[in-house]
Amino acid sequence: MKKFFEGEKFLANGREKDVFVVPKSSDRPAEVVISHFKENKEGTDREAKARYYLTKILHYLFPENIPDVYFSSKKTLITEKVDTGRLHQRFHELKAKGEKNEETAVEWQECKGLAESMADMARNRVYGSSFNNDLLDLGVSFDFAFGNFGVDDKNNIKYVDSFDPWSLDPKNELCRGYNLEKLTKVIESLPNDRGGILNANFSSRRKERAKRYLVELEKLFIEEAEGRKNSSAGIK
Ligand SMILES: Nc1ncnc2c1ncn2[C@@H]1O[C@H](COP(=O)(O)OP(=O)(O)O)[C@@H](O)[C@H]1O
Ligand SMILES: [Mg+2]
Repeated sequence: MKKFFEGEKFLANGREKDVFVVPKSSDRPAEVVISHFKENKEGTDREAKARYYLTKILHYLFPENIPDVYFSSKKTLITEKVDTGRLHQRFHELKAKGEKNEETAVEWQECKGLAESMADMARNRVYGSSFNNDLLDLGVSFDFAFGNFGVDDKNNIKYVDSFDPWSLDPKNELCRGYNLEKLTKVIESLPNDRGGILNANFSSRRKERAKRYLVELEKLFIEEAEGRKNSSAGIK
């Protein structure tokens, strides 16, 4: 596989992506994660752009829970590397041992225990965070699989999988991967204040950017929906 960066190190592979860590360097102040979509999971350029805007907005709304995104194409996603915590690491270690067999049965039992506690966390019972409910409430769909969640050392839930800006419903109609009205409202409710010296303008800038990103996201969604309509009209 072609390497994007010097020193890229394998981190994990999931169902959709092969994931690598890129170390920091003189022109990169922190580690980043580069995920390569598997061939059959590549989407379109438009979808990749839309994913970028949606993820940026969600990162602005949940900065402690959703890693920032720096680059998005149909083949590649570059995101902030976050601390996913001990349970998550252990899960990957156990998974790497491969198929369950007599030798690994005890480990798989541990793995199952970890998966259950992460699922509890994801459902909000353990850490009492409202993060998942907030996301669901914004009409954002996400994958509850254990490997997509971590907990950092400040007990923040981290959601590391990517977001789909849209999907097809059972009637083959294109649906937004977010609730436009609710997202508009919640962005509008972000603070405007320019007070504070250190993070002066941060919140205002974030709000302005989130608004712009939502406009761009919506444009792409409409283009996609219209493109689909036209192409199915063309087929008839
Ligand atoms: N931003 C990130 N920071 C830290 N670890 C990550 C990040 N993104 C992905 N990972 C690691 O890579 C694994 C697979 O990533 P994921 O995006 O869930 O791939 P897939 O879509 O194939 O399931 C995760 O379980 C996690 O361990
Ligand atoms: Mg995943």
